[in-house]
Amino acid sequence: MNEQVKKYFKNPRNLEIMTDATVMGQGGDPGCGDYIELYLKIENDIIIKASAMVAGCPYAIATTSIFTEMITNKSLDDAMMIPGDQVASLLGGLPKEKIHCSLMGPEALRNAAHNYIMARICTPMAS
Ligand code: FES
Repeated sequence: MNEQVKKYFKNPRNLEIMTDATVMGQGGDPGCGDYIELYLKIENDIIIKASAMVAGCPYAIATTSIFTEMITNKSLDDAMMIPGDQVASLLGGLPKEKIHCSLMGPEALRNAAHNYIMARICTPMAS
């Protein structure tokens, strides 16, 4: 484990349930143990706050933690454009067998964006 991964694993940022989240998205698979819930507070389509709960290995904790920082203050569209391998790059690289840990954040973001859009489409209009 490199120093950057250790730093984020030992002192993770934004790993908490957000009770006032605009939307939540899931990544990974709760059935096999590797799983995250990503919470987003969105205002004017900007992610003003991101947090997550993680069930997974130290790499999942470190990668999800840095991912919450990467997407904060970005538009939902810009956050979705972050390449999947950028999480691993910012942490100085990951072992090949740990790459999947870093992909749960982007997967959860896609699911959160889907949920956000569906909630907006399905909100009844005032008559
Ligand atoms: Fe499965 Fe990291 S979350 S090995």
